[in-house]
Amino acid sequence: MSPEIVENPFAANALARREAPVYQLPGTGIFMVSTYDLIAEACGRPEDFSNEFGAALQGNAREDEEIKSVLARGWPVVDTLLTADPPRHTRFRKLVNLAFSPARVNKIEAHVGAIVDELIDGFIDRGHCEFVREFGVPLPLTVISDQLGVPRSDMALFKEWSDAIADRLGGMLSRDEELACAHKLVAFQHYMLARLEERRGNPRDDLLSDLVNARIDGERELDTAELLSMVQQFLVAGNETTTNSLAGGILLLIQNPGEFAKILANPDLIKNMVEEVLRLESPTNSMWRIVKRNAELGGVAIPAGSTLLLRYGSGNRDAAKFPDPDRFDVERKNAQMHLAFGRGTHSCIGAMLSRKEMNVAFRRLTTRLKNPRLAPDNDLSHHINLLLRGLKSLHIEFDRP
Ligand code: HEM
Repeated sequence: MSPEIVENPFAANALARREAPVYQLPGTGIFMVSTYDLIAEACGRPEDFSNEFGAALQGNAREDEEIKSVLARGWPVVDTLLTADPPRHTRFRKLVNLAFSPARVNKIEAHVGAIVDELIDGFIDRGHCEFVREFGVPLPLTVISDQLGVPRSDMALFKEWSDAIADRLGGMLSRDEELACAHKLVAFQHYMLARLEERRGNPRDDLLSDLVNARIDGERELDTAELLSMVQQFLVAGNETTTNSLAGGILLLIQNPGEFAKILANPDLIKNMVEEVLRLESPTNSMWRIVKRNAELGGVAIPAGSTLLLRYGSGNRDAAKFPDPDRFDVERKNAQMHLAFGRGTHSCIGAMLSRKEMNVAFRRLTTRLKNPRLAPDNDLSHHINLLLRGLKSLHIEFDRP
């Protein structure tokens, strides 16, 4: 859990896969699971390994009076999708599956293309850009804002709130950072509730209206805390992760000119390249599970009440599944077997949407940016977050058109 390992986890992951695929982190109740098969198995056993880790993420918030009083001005964070188990999870998931179906996502392809072109127009004449800030962040943020139906002019706020909520999920915050996040969470809740209220009796063609008008089991409306929980997940889960895949992907292309040449020669390879980027980058690098009852995984006894840390990023570099796993191979036959979107009950609901964004983005970027290369002033460091992995910034240059 040290920042050095979070920054560069690959050797530690390989060691764990080889010597202790289910490894109890010393002095903790956390068991790290690092091979492909065992991660997939754990995802398929929700009766043993639960997603109800919402409460465990509260950290200092549970005891600290100041943080508690800030949070009391908002609504409790309740378990709906990510942090709920079946059958509760199934009820909420059914409500929103349709909104993220391939048919719905395909309908917005041209819209995504227009956003991508607008963003590229913003920097192409300059011959350089900070890719994370100027492209990676605004693309998914604009797409999800449009889907939800909230104004693009408030995007800077969404980014700030989304970062704060993602930081909480990573569980590596100091007390003061947690206090700052609590303020942002409550501001987010008040803002979104006002937007949701606008839709009551006055629905529009957007996801917020769908949520307000949804009926659990065809009967009751979602209550305020449930509505906010769902919106919060769409905002956070959809942003950081897609941002990180876009930036990680362009870096992989620049660092692997042979693979880049294959994409330029045959752009139809982009679909598979996107899967290979997701495999190698694994923007959701890890995820928690709570052990509900005494269990065994990979021959290791795990007591009830322990925590699993599923290392998706490690499973995605398991040589038993992906030969020569650290190599970026845009033609890799089984790239789409990666665990970057999880597996089973909680597999990512936004997978189709983010795949669409990445496919459209890489098609336009590889066509429009000529001879992209790294600018001299890059340190290529990542955000220190145990769960979400992504570059802090990426300065690139390219030939002016
Ligand atoms: C490259 C982009 C993305 C990656 C790598 C990613 C990754 C993941 C992963 C690994 C999970 C499973 C968590 C678990 O095992 O418990 C997940 C779940 C989820 N994702 Fe994504 N995600 C991405 C994009 C999105 C987008 C665009 C949205 C929505 C707008 C989204 C919304 C969600 C939600 C709501 C869940 C919880 C689903 C449930 O529990 O039923 N994600 N995501």
